[in-house]
Parts: sequence; C-alpha cells; structure tokens
Amino acid sequence: MDVLSRETPAGADAGIGETPAGADAGIGETPAGADAGIGETPAGADAGIGETMVALRGLGFRFGAETVLRDLDLDLRRGGFTAIVGPSGVGKSTLLRAIAGLAPPAAGRVDLRLPAIAGSRPVAMVFQDPRLLPWRRVGANVGFGLEGLIADRAERRRRITAALRLVGLADRADRWPGRLSGGERQRVGIARALAVKPSLLLMDEPFSAIDAITRKGLQDELLRIWRETGTSVLFVTHDLDEAAYLADRVIVLAGRPAGVRQDLDIDLPRERRRERPAFGALLGRLHQGLAEGFEGGDGI
Ligand SMILES: Nc1ncnc2c1ncn2[C@@H]1O[C@H](COP(=O)(O)OP(=O)(O)OP(=O)(O)O)[C@@H](O)[C@H]1O
Ligand SMILES: [Mg+2]
Repeated sequence: MDVLSRETPAGADAGIGETPAGADAGIGETPAGADAGIGETPAGADAGIGETMVALRGLGFRFGAETVLRDLDLDLRRGGFTAIVGPSGVGKSTLLRAIAGLAPPAAGRVDLRLPAIAGSRPVAMVFQDPRLLPWRRVGANVGFGLEGLIADRAERRRRITAALRLVGLADRADRWPGRLSGGERQRVGIARALAVKPSLLLMDEPFSAIDAITRKGLQDELLRIWRETGTSVLFVTHDLDEAAYLADRVIVLAGRPAGVRQDLDIDLPRERRRERPAFGALLGRLHQGLAEGFEGGDGI
C-alpha cells in the first residue's frame, strides 16, 4: 500500500490561481499517484473494503483574500460511493482537485492510501468540462492516460475500445473531438478516466451535459462498474435525485468558507427504484439537508 500524503507548504499563497503543474497534469488524469509503484502489487493491494482510503485533515483553501474551504475533515472508505452536493461556488471542484493533487491546499493535509496495481492508476478524474485534446482523435484522447502505463499497443487499443464501449461511443474512436456533441465529449472524458482502471475515481458533475435518458443509462453503467471493479467513487453533483440514486453516502458542503454541513449514510438497498416511497422519503431528507445547509450558509 502506498500512502500518498500532501501537506501544505507554509506558503500562504498556495492555491492561488491555477498551478502550472495542475494545468498539464489535469489532462493526463492522475497526478497524485501516477508513478506510485505501477508494475508492483504490494501486499496491500487487496486490502479490505471499508478501510479509510482518503483522509482529509484541516483542509483549507484560499483564492487571493477569499477563503473557500476551511478546516475540512473527511474520511472516505475504500469501495464507497460518496456524493458531494452543495451550491455553486462552494468549493466542490476545488476539493476534488485537492484530492487529485492538482491544487495544493492553503492548510491541512490530504492522505491517500491507495493500492498500486499493475496496469492501473491510483486516481483518475473526470472534469466538469472534459478537456479533450483537440489535436487527438477520440481514441487517442481516451488512451492518453495509458501511455507510460501499458507498453503493449494492442492492449492499449483493447482498453480504449472497452472504455468507449462502456460509454456507448465505440463507433466514435476515429472522430475529432471538435465533431462531437457536448454530451459525447463528456462521455469521452469519462471513458478516459475508466480506461486507467483507477482505485479512486473522482467525478465532477460528469453527467450534467447529458440528456436525461442517456444519463440514466450511464448512472446504471457507473453503478455496475463500481460494483464489478471495487473502485471507490467520489462524485460531485447538483442533482439530489442523482445523489440519492447512486451514493451510499451524501455529503453536503455549505457556507463560506465552506465546511461539511451534512453527512448522511444512505441505507436504501441497491437496485434502487425512484418510484418507491422510500426513495421519495430519502430525497425529501436530502432536500431538507441542503436547505439547512443554505440556511447556515452565511448568506449563500
Ligand atoms: N483559480 C481560481 N482563482 C480564483 N478563484 C477561484 C479559482 N478557482 C475557483 N475559485 C473560486 O473558488 C470558489 C469555489 O470554486 P469551485 O470551482 O470549487 O466551486 P464549485 O462548488 O465546484 O462550483 P460549481 O458547482 O459552480 O462547479 C468559487 O467562488 C470560485 O470563484
Ligand atoms: Mg465545480
């Protein structure tokens, strides 16, 4: 098991603006653990579901004079599906970027306990906007994170095809990104993250640009992938219905500076059905939780 730990440099300016490292690393998906022992499978690789995989302690973020997140503590369990909800601008993307190692926090630390597995990356991120490389065809975009990870070209091609199939785009591998719809581009971003078979999948509103029917299909596909691969998912969404359908835990961020306002375990059995009364009741609780978050949100 590797423990990737990032502690805040003393510098008060950490986190201002885009770090150049982050800007590049973002496209390649996995700055945090990109080189973490790939090729070896240490004893910890099959460590048990439920143990802490991400530990955030006293995390704080500042942009210029503005403090966005303060004193945030959070443990994420291995194998969990956690949703983060909260109002626009509260700091959800910033939090994901901190976990991915793309943005150094102004205070606190991020500990990742992620297994090193051959042919996988520890962390992958699906960005709020998909950030495809316009000069690479779809297949080459999906394969971006596989370069340096899998030497065999034929195997890389298989992984690309499989990932594109998962998002329903197997026939788009040779297209240029500029000739895709917004929703298709977003799905390519998802395929790029899935292709590296991450232990921790960070998803920033991945389905927001996708029509309702395709979106439901992708939600079910994501649940299937989550169950079959054992990957842990941290999923940002504005959509409480989506959070209730997907997650086993929902965290509400609110306030400025923001912190955790609600932390709900979702105990509805899987194969959730939206038409069932228990689902409606859960949704009601989430709406209430978000409303309370707003009320306590210092004017947000
Ligand atoms: N590079 C940056 N420079 C200055 N301020 C920033 C920067 N990135 C984010 N912010 C500010 O930090 C706050 C949190 O931004 P963040 O993108 O994390 O919000 P969010 O919760 O993801 O919002 P949304 O739901 O709209 O995506 C916002 O007020 C935003 O304006
Ligand atoms: Mg965001």
